[in-house]
Amino acid sequence: MTLKVLSVASEAVPLVKTGGLADVVGALPGALAPNGVELTTLLPGYPAVLAALGKKPKVLHKWESLLGEPARLLAGKLSDHPLLVLDAPGLFARDGGPYGDATGRDWRDNWKRFAAFGRAAADVAGGAVKGLTFDLVHAHDWQAAMTLAYLRFAPTGSTPPSVITIHNMAFQGHYGADVFAGLDLPPHAFAIDGVEYHGGVSFLKAGLAAASRVTTVSPTYAREIREPGFGMGLEGLIRGREADVSGIVNGIDPVVWNPAADPALPATYTIKTLARRAANTLALEAEFGLQAGSGPLFVVISRLTWQKGMDVLLEAADHLVGIGGRLALLGSGDAALESGFHAAAARHPGRIAVRIGYDEALSHRMLGGGDSILVPSRFEPCGLTQLYGLAYGCVPVVSRTGGLADTVIDVNLAARLAGVATGVQFDGVRYNTLADAITRTVGLFGQRETWRGLQRAGMKADFAWECSGQAYADLYARLVEAS
Ligand code: ADP
Ligand code: GLC
Repeated sequence: MTLKVLSVASEAVPLVKTGGLADVVGALPGALAPNGVELTTLLPGYPAVLAALGKKPKVLHKWESLLGEPARLLAGKLSDHPLLVLDAPGLFARDGGPYGDATGRDWRDNWKRFAAFGRAAADVAGGAVKGLTFDLVHAHDWQAAMTLAYLRFAPTGSTPPSVITIHNMAFQGHYGADVFAGLDLPPHAFAIDGVEYHGGVSFLKAGLAAASRVTTVSPTYAREIREPGFGMGLEGLIRGREADVSGIVNGIDPVVWNPAADPALPATYTIKTLARRAANTLALEAEFGLQAGSGPLFVVISRLTWQKGMDVLLEAADHLVGIGGRLALLGSGDAALESGFHAAAARHPGRIAVRIGYDEALSHRMLGGGDSILVPSRFEPCGLTQLYGLAYGCVPVVSRTGGLADTVIDVNLAARLAGVATGVQFDGVRYNTLADAITRTVGLFGQRETWRGLQRAGMKADFAWECSGQAYADLYARLVEAS
């Protein structure tokens, strides 16, 4: 029997992406199909999403007033899998990003945009749209979390079992109590086990409290969020629901991330032809204007934020160059970090080069030509770039947290003797710990056989979706059976 699951999220590759959430939501339907699950994805009707539906998409449903806004439910395809789109022009037909204007400022009505999205998703999941039925609903992050609050407090049909996945605790959707009146929920929903949070309203909290099960994107992060530093105010709720919280590591799409057949690379290669990477390294040096060198070429592909430890990397940049490393960085984010990295590049011409912006193809070339990818995150629910690094023989250097702890094997003595090390890990994101990890990496790079061993072991580590797709399918099946 095929299980029918509605996946509710605000981003999905290839239609709309601000981070790893989009990669995961876009990959899940394909990961679940072989496991007997038909996953239908529901997205907000941002301009780019509507454009992908073509001129005359099929209209499945109309709302005269969805929290006061007219809206329609449209049908489409997400890479061959079923897609539903909430077309509500008053909420989503805007220039800029999914959450804010072109200058990065959040839209003031985000509470209403994503409450309406949740209201519509709850209607769809509960069977209010003729012809659509679902066995389970899976909500991702705060933007989809209100789906579960509406199903719980204001159902318009059935209430299927539910899963909520936390991709990042740092984004919770907190608003003042004044928005409650606009949510169209019964008064008793404004309670400690409902949407209320410290006198205001929290979307993520509402979803976590209402979901049948809570998952996050790595087992280590699932443990970490029980503690204040990582739980970011929701650690009490997570501890209270400990038995219902688990971690399932993200996979990567082996079609998109395959160095043997990557159209973005000057030279493709396999585990057996690693020497061919040298051509990519040369091309990358030329592209970034870096000098050749005997030390490793470090790369960074990241949002430039506090989460990602980019301020600490900036502090360690002089050290990295001082011991013979070079750095190519691609990212965008905090203005102070962007200008800090520009200044570091100006101090070290030919040794540090920076591209501010978002460039998918360049990220592939960096993974195919860089020697080592730096991911010094303060917290990292899963992290995808270290997984790409492993697949591309671009050895990850990571802090020991969240998914980084779960996916990279540190090159300590035991791992080296067993031949299983895949990268370098360090504890605590501070100047000293990161500088020390960089020093270790430069040393390892000088030992050619050891380095090749790290590359090969990483390329063998298979973070394709099979395993995690099965884990989600098992979880769905258990919940549906118990419902
Ligand atoms: P997060 O979602 O927290 O930003 P992840 O590692 O899960 O972190 O996912 C980030 C995704 O965005 C990856 O697919 C990564 O390659 C991509 N990415 C981040 N910054 C850039 C950039 N400047 N250019 C191209 N891709 C980027
Ligand atoms: C979030 C996290 C990242 C994770 C991604 C996809 O953006 O910051 O660690 O890989 O979601 O789950």
